[in-house]
Amino acid sequence: MELQQTIRIRRSIRSYTNKPIPQETIRTLLNAAVQAPSAMNSQPWAFAVIQNAAALKVLSDASKRYLVSSLTDASPLAKYRDLLSEPNFDVFYGASTLVLILAKPNNPRPLEDCQLAAENLMLAACDNGLGTCFIGFANIYLDTPAGKKEQGIPEDYQVAATIVVGEPKEPLAPMDKKPPEVVFWKEA
Ligand SMILES: Cc1cc2nc3c(=O)[nH]c(=O)nc-3n(C[C@H](O)[C@H](O)[C@H](O)COP(=O)(O)O)c2cc1C
Repeated sequence: MELQQTIRIRRSIRSYTNKPIPQETIRTLLNAAVQAPSAMNSQPWAFAVIQNAAALKVLSDASKRYLVSSLTDASPLAKYRDLLSEPNFDVFYGASTLVLILAKPNNPRPLEDCQLAAENLMLAACDNGLGTCFIGFANIYLDTPAGKKEQGIPEDYQVAATIVVGEPKEPLAPMDKKPPEVVFWKEA
């Protein structure tokens, strides 16, 4: 697919079939992720993949429990309290694969680098006909000491991106985005 078209049609997908995604396909996405730029070429990323429906259910439930118990009324996520309290709400929308991008410590700008890698991964997935969605709901929990311990993520790694990958149930129409707001544009 032509790059501009891939960028334009990528959408956050919130409904997936349970079709398994081959390991080889996920490797293709990881290889796209690691092509991202990084500060001082530090390449400070590591990855974790979960392709187990029971493990994803446990993680979805733990993420919801953590968010509901820690939300304050002032939190921007407070409006999701009811949704997060619903037993049947799956924060992963039924996707068969979850990819974590982990930022390794002692690097100049690990979080930014990993988030650039995340966009590469999502665009590569779109280019392969797969849907993705960044799951902040789970990312918040996974980046806590309890979340890291439960998953076996090293304590000093930061969970930079939590992305579901799967076969979309149906394609989404392109979304109109706000036009670029240019604060300044200095010319000679
Ligand atoms: C940091 C971050 C966290 C997000 N967390 C969630 C989430 O927990 N659940 C969800 O359904 N979408 C989540 N999204 C997806 C956004 O809602 C989505 O990107 C936005 O609505 C724009 O839609 P688009 O991705 O289709 O362009 C997240 C996106 C980002 C960048």
